[in-house]
Amino acid sequence: MTRLAPLALLSAAALPGAMAWGAMGHETVAYVASNYVGSAAKSYFQDLLGDTSADYLASVAAWADSYRYTTAGKFSAPYHYIDANDNPPSSCGVDLDRDCADEGCVVYALQNYTSQLIAQKVSNANLQIAAKMVIHFAGDIGQPLHCEALDVGGNDIDVSYDGDDTNLHAVWDSNIPESISGGSSESSAKSWASTLVTKIDSGEYKSQASGWISGLSVGSSDDQISTALKWATESNAYVCSIVLKDGVSSIENTDVSGDYTTAAQPAVELQIAKQGYRLAKWLDAIVAAQ
Ligand SMILES: *[C@@H]1O[C@H](CO)[C@@H](O)[C@H](O)[C@H]1NC(C)=O
Ligand SMILES: [Zn+2]
Repeated sequence: MTRLAPLALLSAAALPGAMAWGAMGHETVAYVASNYVGSAAKSYFQDLLGDTSADYLASVAAWADSYRYTTAGKFSAPYHYIDANDNPPSSCGVDLDRDCADEGCVVYALQNYTSQLIAQKVSNANLQIAAKMVIHFAGDIGQPLHCEALDVGGNDIDVSYDGDDTNLHAVWDSNIPESISGGSSESSAKSWASTLVTKIDSGEYKSQASGWISGLSVGSSDDQISTALKWATESNAYVCSIVLKDGVSSIENTDVSGDYTTAAQPAVELQIAKQGYRLAKWLDAIVAAQ
């Protein structure tokens, strides 16, 4: 894992926006979540974040991606991913002992900030940070390439998209989500989220949604870790089944805006919907445990 740190920093410096679902993806997760958050969690987080508007989760959903590039927030950069050292496409899997670096990873970060929100022993300013971290990492953990070490989570796999040079990680963060929602703005996020909410309430996701949250628990640190690890493992499995299905060489230096994107869209849509729904139940569980 340590071998990845300098490379990750380099990529981060070169591509500040390209290390997480783009802001639009995070906002969509947050808007889906806002739709399902119960009234106790809604009032707690609106109050904590000082925002009583309907956008209280979406407005802070991408904050952690700017914080990580500040001096104060640099420590949090490794919290956005877990470097699964598996062997895609032939074998995928996350092993916490193997894959979570000493400086932390998204699974422990979710646990850490979740337990801070439950215990409420830190300052209000730190509780606000904890809330923004949980809202953000619930999204990141659903991006398959945030749960993969190979080629720095795809940052080192050069591809083009509609003729523009980019890398596979950025394509999954932003190009594919935007190919579904139609844009990168907060209003694209809002309208995509409403489509996803309809699919959850009465469409193709209706029969699955209860399964997405089965076993979800914040009862103990171990419960928080095992829930987050389950999310990471599910997300990582897409690296073998879709992201690198035919191996790196099949897509490296090709334009992935056509068939590749069409094949990836259903997985991206599902991951965003699922993580939004899970985030709502997670925030409810936090407030219930306080
Ligand atoms: C938990 O969060 C605090 C506050 O941001 C941070 O100082 C600490 O290093 C984190 N611990 C872990 C294990 O991530
Ligand atoms: Zn992130």
